[in-house]
Amino acid sequence: MMTRKSVLTAVIGAALTFGATASAYAATTFKLSHNHPRDHAVHKAMDHMAKEVRALTDGEVRIRIYPDAQLGTQRESMELMQNGALEMVKTNAAELEAFAPAYSAFNLPYLFRDKTHYYNVKEGEVGEEILASSRDSGFIGVTYYDAGARSFYTSKPIETPEDLKGMKIRVQPSPSAIAMVNALGGSPTPLAYGELYTALQQGVVDAAENNIPSFSLSRHSEVSKYFSLDEHTMVPDVLVISTKAYDGLSEEHQEALKKAAMSSMEVMKELWAESEAKERAKAEKMGVTFVKPNKTAFVEAVQPMYDELEKSNPELNEIVERIKAVQ
Ligand code: GCU
Repeated sequence: MMTRKSVLTAVIGAALTFGATASAYAATTFKLSHNHPRDHAVHKAMDHMAKEVRALTDGEVRIRIYPDAQLGTQRESMELMQNGALEMVKTNAAELEAFAPAYSAFNLPYLFRDKTHYYNVKEGEVGEEILASSRDSGFIGVTYYDAGARSFYTSKPIETPEDLKGMKIRVQPSPSAIAMVNALGGSPTPLAYGELYTALQQGVVDAAENNIPSFSLSRHSEVSKYFSLDEHTMVPDVLVISTKAYDGLSEEHQEALKKAAMSSMEVMKELWAESEAKERAKAEKMGVTFVKPNKTAFVEAVQPMYDELEKSNPELNEIVERIKAVQ
């Protein structure tokens, strides 16, 4: 098996020699990096997209997927993409905040009323505008993927925000996630996803938060035996492509890529629902207890985040208001 370093060296080497050898190949091959294992629903959805884009372009556009953070963390992958060493990254709205501010709207707690609202926003006008907002920063959003709701998990049930007091809680490197945990009374600790298993095991952090499939597939269920369904955020996964790679495609190939991505987003809805049920059952079998706290106190505790936004960030506040107005 290739180590992460050797994969990275091979990929970057290939990218550097690409200019010299490109004319020998008719096909364009895009490298796509993400941090989940192959049995995660999002990998399967993107695999579907890769097959579809290949079929739609008669093999002229191909996507090679590198899972398991082989090419680095989400942040490192974004940087490699900006430097031209890879073309596509599957990340999520929390991590994208540092690269394109409009994505922070998605990271506000208790923003979405339900799943239908969440889908209608992602697939509607505001969702499209956010995907397009980063063009000048060197990348474009291709599609969102359902990533369910995120909740806290640790070694005890979290029934109210009081239970988070004094706990070191791992968050993604995202200002909104940090502000949320502060508002709830916990102590936020930003860490890359790949470092979390060891951090939980060694007590570097006391708790974390994520959706059920990621909790189970990353084996955090081995160390955290209570998953409290407070469902504070619904942070979508996002597939992005470098502006340069996208603009280098013919219009026909751009259409094919969009079509394949849309189709994979639809496929993901079903894969996600199946995966949530399957991974919950797996975690329960491993001795994890799922708790259903009353959400009222959580909703009230994060309200100052909305008041602050209204006062200090009119631009983002307007996006948030438009999201709320979506039916
Ligand atoms: C989810 C998401 C990942 C993200 C992870 C995290 O699993 O799909 O993109 O990296 O959360 O908490 O870091």
